[in-house]
Amino acid sequence: MKNKKFNRNVAIVGAGMSKFGAFPGLSSRDIFVEAYKDLMTTVDKGMEPKDIEAFYLGNYSSDLFEGQSHLAPIIANWIGLSPIPAIRLENACASSSGAFRQAAIAIASGLYDVVLVGGIEKMTDLPINQVTDTLATAADIPYEVSAGFTFPGFYAAMASAYIHNYGATPETFMKVGIKNHQHGSLNPKAQFGQKITDIMEGKKASALKKGRPLPSWKTEIDFLSDDKANPMIAWPMRLYDCSPVSDGGAAILLVSEELAYQYSDNPVFLIGSGAASDGPLHGRPTLTSIPSAKLASQQAYQMAGVTPKDIKFAEVHDCFTIAEIIATEDLGFFEPGLGGKAAEEGLTSRTGSKPINLSGGLKSKGHPVGASGAGQIVEVWKQLRGEAGERQLPGTPDVALTHNVGGTGQTCIVNIFERR
Ligand code: COA
Repeated sequence: MKNKKFNRNVAIVGAGMSKFGAFPGLSSRDIFVEAYKDLMTTVDKGMEPKDIEAFYLGNYSSDLFEGQSHLAPIIANWIGLSPIPAIRLENACASSSGAFRQAAIAIASGLYDVVLVGGIEKMTDLPINQVTDTLATAADIPYEVSAGFTFPGFYAAMASAYIHNYGATPETFMKVGIKNHQHGSLNPKAQFGQKITDIMEGKKASALKKGRPLPSWKTEIDFLSDDKANPMIAWPMRLYDCSPVSDGGAAILLVSEELAYQYSDNPVFLIGSGAASDGPLHGRPTLTSIPSAKLASQQAYQMAGVTPKDIKFAEVHDCFTIAEIIATEDLGFFEPGLGGKAAEEGLTSRTGSKPINLSGGLKSKGHPVGASGAGQIVEVWKQLRGEAGERQLPGTPDVALTHNVGGTGQTCIVNIFERR
């Protein structure tokens, strides 16, 4: 593989996000305003909107979710950026990582010096069956969806294969959900920012108050194994193995390396970026690895000149709990088949040797699909600058990675960041 480099380096000098959740009555443009305003508070030396030369927006399907397409110029106008070029990029759940990478390439080419990257999705206005159908359009309609597959089904097939190949159990997956809810409980912007124990105790208290029989759960695993409390969505993926349906936006200000310290006291540099694509899931040699993730990460490691050992923490695409386990193997953090054990042993928790999804991940923080990749980068920005509040990783981490998957791996984008 030829070592690819950017012609010049790029740096993040501001990053913000809206709260993720369900916001009836707010459209995607309103939600993006919250993210953009949040970003503006993070630029140490201030920014002028007139400095921004182009806008790259990741959005999966405002067309089907909101009946509104052509969203990039609409949002650019809403936040006062017309008439700069405004480009929407659609790469399923990896849309805003795609927008981020294209913006970085545009700066590296020398064309622009200051670019705004956004990610946005407003999913919760539709009933769940229409949300599921809309998401399913990111899969292969004639060859997969027409056979009955939706996204919970795809990842359930991957989870079943993981159980078969490596002897994992449903509890292996539950451990990922428990950990991500624990991390998310420290993130005020998370949609489901409660620990599983707290959710369990809340349900017990509610039963008591309503005079219903008190559930007998003693542990989180008891609660998560209860079909009523945690219904099966597609075996072995239950409700708490799935990321939710979410509204949310994220925004990032990206500049050329030369300008970084004009805007920021503490910029975060993009040092490696990789991207790859693939065909549908059913055509792959294995269901327990995503080839595009391996390729994208190899490119990113090579460009950055680092190895998986150098990554202090990562935000990975946990659209379902199995996806996080597979990601930690594809990224080279653990050997194939050992990602599940690593989760069981707590190695991927905040206090473990390879912390994963300190933000709560898509599982707890939420998964507004077009905003999720940019949201991962916002977490990396905060952690590398030591500004993640209660969930700040101790020991001043210097190198971190984001891994964002579109579909079941038809797209994967991996970025590596450094604090200098
Ligand atoms: N995790 C934890 N709790 C969840 C949840 C999730 N993912 N989704 C909903 N809930 C909770 C709700 O808060 C609600 O709790 P309450 O009864 O205490 O108020 C309860 O579960 C039912 O919520 P509801 O909104 O009716 O759920 P739903 O059945 O409409 O949706 C899923 C649940 C799993 C089907 C939906 O979240 C889903 O499709 N997730 C996957 C999204 C996806 O595929 N994204 C793309 C990935 S590639």
